[in-house]
Amino acid sequence: MLSEEGLQMRLITSVEDVGKLTTRWKEAGLRISLVPTMGFFHAGHLALMKYAKQHSDRVVVSLFVNPSQFGPNEDFKEYPRDLERDRSLAEKENVDCLFCPEAADMYPEGFQTWVDVNGLAKHLCGASRPGHFRGVATIVTKLFNIVRPDLAVFGQKDFQQLQIIRRIVRDLNFGIEIKGYPIVREADGLAMSSRNKYLNSEERKNALCLFEALKMAEKMVSEGCCSTPRLAHAIERIILARPGTKIDYIFLGDPETLTERETIQDDTLLALAVYVGNTRLIDNTILRPPKDAKGVHHKGKF
Ligand code: PAF
Repeated sequence: MLSEEGLQMRLITSVEDVGKLTTRWKEAGLRISLVPTMGFFHAGHLALMKYAKQHSDRVVVSLFVNPSQFGPNEDFKEYPRDLERDRSLAEKENVDCLFCPEAADMYPEGFQTWVDVNGLAKHLCGASRPGHFRGVATIVTKLFNIVRPDLAVFGQKDFQQLQIIRRIVRDLNFGIEIKGYPIVREADGLAMSSRNKYLNSEERKNALCLFEALKMAEKMVSEGCCSTPRLAHAIERIILARPGTKIDYIFLGDPETLTERETIQDDTLLALAVYVGNTRLIDNTILRPPKDAKGVHHKGKF
């Protein structure tokens, strides 16, 4: 598959080489996009690549299972990897460069500089995965500095991650456009995730409770429910009705500041993290109150 006149997709492992390539592209006036990933591509990743291709002249996809964003008891070792498969999928999307750095190059001997986003990273996934967002923020900052893209594309499934990255771009003056791409789902509604691979067939069925809970909450809000405790209670019932589930969090709050809300008068983020067996899954939606309920939540039915 030819992605650039007469050239196959480049597979680059060296930080220096990818920097040289994107510098050449920049000098030629080309718009560059970056899709940061940890590989094991699914349709969600491919949708990000498609978007990047449509909105830039050259696409770099980074593939790096970043050790610093995994806790000591998390799945860094087991995280699914298949470079050959990923390479051919990226090629089919006409990606121009697949950047697969080595951990020793990203975190060389003596590495000691970290990017820590204080407020946004504290709650939700930050509370149950201490250090996770420090690892994400640091690697994404490094990728931005190495590739120097004009546009970077991330999935909205990791909603908190997306907001943290937007914050970093504003706070550190990166001048990069950030696109949050809508969640891509399986036919039955399960959000695509590389970690779905961990689910056995029984767990796969039970994992649908996240999507069902989101849909039920959307319906309740469209029918006038404005009480977040009430919604949280109904969501909890749906999830715990499935065997082998354990709730990490149910969050209902401001999509920008990630602070909790008691009532839904404006668009509100509903984010879930749920263990299905040993697999921790996340999903989210924006709850939009009916127009006439905005600012007059007492008019809601319950
Ligand atoms: O969302 C992911 O896959 C990762 O957190 C990211 C953004 C590639 C950083 O390692």
